[in-house]
Amino acid sequence: MRTVRLPDGTEVVALGQGTWRMGEGRHPRKAEADALRMGLDLGMTLIDTAEMYGEGGAEEVVGDAVAGRRDTAFIVSKVYPRNASHKGVAAACARSLSRMRVERIDLYLLHWRGSVPLAETVAGFEDLRAAGKIGAWGVSNFDAAEMAELVRVPDGSGCATDQVLYNPDARGIEFDLLPWCARAKMPLMAYSPVGQGGSLLRAPAMLAAARRHGATPAQIALAWALRHPGVIAIPKATIHAHVRDNATAATLTLTPDDLAAIDAAFPPPKRRQRLEML
Ligand SMILES: NC(=O)c1ccc[n+]([C@@H]2O[C@H](COP(=O)([O-])OP(=O)(O)OC[C@H]3O[C@@H](n4cnc5c(N)ncnc54)[C@H](OP(=O)(O)O)[C@@H]3O)[C@@H](O)[C@H]2O)c1
Repeated sequence: MRTVRLPDGTEVVALGQGTWRMGEGRHPRKAEADALRMGLDLGMTLIDTAEMYGEGGAEEVVGDAVAGRRDTAFIVSKVYPRNASHKGVAAACARSLSRMRVERIDLYLLHWRGSVPLAETVAGFEDLRAAGKIGAWGVSNFDAAEMAELVRVPDGSGCATDQVLYNPDARGIEFDLLPWCARAKMPLMAYSPVGQGGSLLRAPAMLAAARRHGATPAQIALAWALRHPGVIAIPKATIHAHVRDNATAATLTLTPDDLAAIDAAFPPPKRRQRLEML
């Protein structure tokens, strides 16, 4: 599995697993944990979760998935902006650790920008890092201007990643944020990389590329996101066939013709666009 290097030198896999909508009772908790464990076995060893998902339910599923094999997983979780004060972030982290029954969150993100000053949240993250409760910290749903602002606050340059919406149908970040991250040597995490399993996977350009490669449209979407060396994609899957599909996408390389056909169907941005988020 291809890896991506975080600014602190840690290598993580470029293809991980999401957990939004897990821990909400849609499927038995064991089935969701089994899907994540299958993904771990297939090499998708980065798991993305958040205190928001299922109001802690997804973190409990992650805890089940990594029980007895904590060292095989790189866990990413996120704090609600409303909990991102200096004291709040410590309390939220403690709750997340306890739900997942782990000693450390490997990468802890501010879920989106709220009203707490960035410097205060960063100070809270840095204290957690010094205490060994988290390995690294980052943000989510920050646009290029917000990233530039973040790296100017004290210790702000310690940010490890920005996690944002990215798939062929939502590619506005290619205009400014993706180049900004590349210049800063900061990996970008692509969320909803298979377009939440919706119309993207039925688009003629995706179906045609899938036919050419003997692949599925979801695999094409993942290979498309992973064509950038600094991008980490985190598809969420509960169905085992989806987990298997996603794991093998890392070996797929799109041709210039595939990329041109996808560009024709989903044109790259020509000007700065407002950051899209879900
Ligand atoms: N930071 C943020 O604000 C933010 C926002 C959104 C998401 N995220 C993170 O990013 C992760 C991924 O995003 P997402 O869950 O929104 O969307 P996604 O990963 O693009 O899509 C998930 C949906 O697609 C289906 N799917 C997965 N693999 C498939 C395949 N190979 N073929 C067909 N369908 C497939 C899944 O079905 P089954 O589950 O039925 O298998 C599920 O319904 C989230 O789970 C979360 O961890 C972060």
